[in-house]
Amino acid sequence: VSTKGDFDHFMMKEIHEQPDLIRNLVYKYKSPQVIEKLKKVKDKFDKAETIHITACGSAWHCGILLKYYFEKYNKKQVNIELASEFRYRNPTLRKNDISISISQSGETIDTLASLQLCKEEGLSCFSIINTEGSTIFRECDENLLIFAGKEIGVASTKAFTLQVLTGYLLSKFCSNDLNNDIFKEIENLAGLIDEIILRKDEIKDAAKSYYNKRGYIFTGRGFMFPMALEGALKLKEIAYVHAEGYAAGELKHGPIALIDSEMVNVVLSSLNLQEKTLSNAQEVKARNGILLGVGDISDKELLASCELYFGLDLSKVGDLAGVAVNVVAQLFTYYIALFKGNDIDKPRNLAKSVTVE
Ligand code: M6R
Repeated sequence: VSTKGDFDHFMMKEIHEQPDLIRNLVYKYKSPQVIEKLKKVKDKFDKAETIHITACGSAWHCGILLKYYFEKYNKKQVNIELASEFRYRNPTLRKNDISISISQSGETIDTLASLQLCKEEGLSCFSIINTEGSTIFRECDENLLIFAGKEIGVASTKAFTLQVLTGYLLSKFCSNDLNNDIFKEIENLAGLIDEIILRKDEIKDAAKSYYNKRGYIFTGRGFMFPMALEGALKLKEIAYVHAEGYAAGELKHGPIALIDSEMVNVVLSSLNLQEKTLSNAQEVKARNGILLGVGDISDKELLASCELYFGLDLSKVGDLAGVAVNVVAQLFTYYIALFKGNDIDKPRNLAKSVTVE
């Protein structure tokens, strides 16, 4: 039986579990049993012309980030799709392509149907998954478990983080780069998340100042783009406010028209594409938008542009910076929902696992 322990909500408990679960993931992915599984996936991954990733919700956001990793580290062509669209289209599937389903529950109906479509076309099917023995788990040729333990909060936190890291480990394994430096980088990430959690009162204060604004736009570039989508989804889900996630470069193609003094823009930045992100942020500031930022401690210019800036030392976590930044967004969302008096673990209209269309 899962209990909340010292926490008021499962969501907060699950946010706090992340550093230890990350360390445990490293331990698991050094074990011969898991390495054996990685080898089986790698064999097909290496030969695949296209990798089709299908998922829903937060798992889809994870898939977008994995596309960026597989392109950068593996030079692979990746098709990341919302499972609910993929299953009803006529996607081009070739026999030596592979399918990767991402799912916490392993029971999401659209993700399952997409997997079955790929299976019928003769593709090798793999998963990044939390629930051992679930339907998706049973249907796949091989499964990479994320070892998140049971996730009870409807808003996914720890499962999302561990899905990303499992995909990252797969990417590094397939490029023959899974070595102690990578494990160290992941452990650094766990340490950084510990630090964020210790600073959660700063995030609570920020949420208190901004919880009643009209709307929120999360923006980011590159690896931060899927995190912007994830931050906005979480806010919609449990805070019931209008939130959008945008690639920062897309702002001027429409959403910048929404910017005024009641609109909060949460800028997610990293050491990657820093200048470009800054210039988008300055455009928002020039239109009287409320600018909040999360990024590297060295980014003095972004700090100077923002009403509030949450600086982190992102120098030792490489392309995993987004995972840390997303934990700040998880806490921000939690506190906004708390100040609004919402039911955080069981948000209205939502089910933990979507098993019907
Ligand atoms: O169990 P799954 O990972 O397949 O679920 C997919 C989505 O339903 C899920 O990520 C949903 O978007 C979460 N509530 C997000 O917090």
